[in-house]
Amino acid sequence: MLFDRVKSLDAIMATAEKKGLHRSLGPFQLTLLGIGAVIGTGIFVLTAEASQKAGPGMLASFIIAGFVCGVAALCYSELASMVPVAGSAYTYTYAVVGEMMAWMVGWALILEYAVGASAVAVGWSNHAIGLAQGLGYHFPAAISNADALMAKVELMFSAAPTADIMEALRIGGWINVPAVLVASAVTWLLIIGTTESARVNAVLVLIKITALTMFIFLTIPVMNAEHFTPFAPTGASGIFGAAASIFFAYVGFDAVSTAAEETKNPQRNVPIGLIGSLVICTIFYLLVASGEIGAIGAQPVMDAGVALAPGSAEFTGRCALMGAGATQPLVCSKEALVHVLDTIGWPSLGRLVGLAAVLALPSVVLMMMFGQTRVFFTMARDGLLPAKLASVHPKYRTPHVVTLVTGMGTAIAAAFLPVGKLADYSNSGTLFAFLMVAIAVMVLRKTDPSRKRPFRTPGVFIVAPLAIVGCLVLYFSLPMTAILLLPIWGGLGLLVYFFYSRSRSHVGRGFESDTPNDPPSTGVTR
Ligand code: ALA
Repeated sequence: MLFDRVKSLDAIMATAEKKGLHRSLGPFQLTLLGIGAVIGTGIFVLTAEASQKAGPGMLASFIIAGFVCGVAALCYSELASMVPVAGSAYTYTYAVVGEMMAWMVGWALILEYAVGASAVAVGWSNHAIGLAQGLGYHFPAAISNADALMAKVELMFSAAPTADIMEALRIGGWINVPAVLVASAVTWLLIIGTTESARVNAVLVLIKITALTMFIFLTIPVMNAEHFTPFAPTGASGIFGAAASIFFAYVGFDAVSTAAEETKNPQRNVPIGLIGSLVICTIFYLLVASGEIGAIGAQPVMDAGVALAPGSAEFTGRCALMGAGATQPLVCSKEALVHVLDTIGWPSLGRLVGLAAVLALPSVVLMMMFGQTRVFFTMARDGLLPAKLASVHPKYRTPHVVTLVTGMGTAIAAAFLPVGKLADYSNSGTLFAFLMVAIAVMVLRKTDPSRKRPFRTPGVFIVAPLAIVGCLVLYFSLPMTAILLLPIWGGLGLLVYFFYSRSRSHVGRGFESDTPNDPPSTGVTR
């Protein structure tokens, strides 16, 4: 039987109750927590990729992705308020649809968190290099990115070495050292037990919001309505493709769900925090994206009527051949917002926006890596991963082994892959986890209708199916490599499950494994 191992919800709840975390968070702090985890590489970097896919139509992409996250967030809220323990979607699935699917969700969350952290690390690297350049220090191209490596790989598979690919090979780098450095620094912070204080989070949110607000006020006066046409040069498929990628800009709001057990009146405050942070981010994203488009235009670079794939060597080389600095179109930029301000004559304020990203993005890396370590930790405690991974450092009291493994994986992916591809891979895992949460919330309504639900998803049998359809539509709008990655990654996961985890599972062997001293469930302490 494949679906027989369901973890008892009561056992999980007993664990949470033993933890007895103080209920101190109100709606304002929760919203700040959400914004802190959400605003990052998505808006600071990936709007360039999104406009390469959709042109000005990326505005519609932001709305579509925001809507899918909104309905998913409502489903998350119900489970988070019922099952408020570490492990988020993995734990919910374990209690509702059983161990094998939970394993698959945990396995997919590696893509969401670890690969997502890599994407943010690369976004940070782009800004750190840009900032250094602004200050007169030129970071060597060979260790600034992995564009040449990408071109080499593409050459292996492409019959014709085009001029664009040769240019990417000529100017590109082989490894992204700054991204490795930031991932390593965050790993070290997590090992020595650094969690971000609510105050630091609030300051970083303020920095990000100030940078975005300044950007909006500088771009609005120079907006040109003509830059919005043609609005959808790549049609509906381009808009959905960009929505699937820009979805990354919203990821992270689940940090609010995982704080449910520390929230006063979660019935009211968790949804306010989730929806509140999503709405605020969506408004900022739409204004910033409108500013970018209106100020300098956002038409994709085309080849024979087809938009080149962002992140490909062909695209990188073509962009390089179009010149550097302010002459480049938005779609080619590695630090989209800084580039727009440079182009419209505010280079020094552009540097400030770059500085804001350099200061604030490490905290997004930290929250994502923290989420990953807690999922791994919970899986190891359940017996599905080697117990060694769950060992806690004698001095720092942190799950140091699992943190080191996560940090190494994150650093390696960040070293060799471009930001857009990393974000797409991360999205494929996140969409799967969201889909499972939407299924779990409906199943639990049927199988356990009388259990106390501190928060109930309104209209759950409409909202959850909408979330499922939304996740599927976005998933199938991802680039083919990202679509294929999930089943391949999942297949690998199933092999590990059947050859290693299934026989060692604590639930399978007849004992529940949650311990009273799980580490806290979010990376922010209060
Ligand atoms: N939403 C986060 C970002 O855009 C992950 O960086």
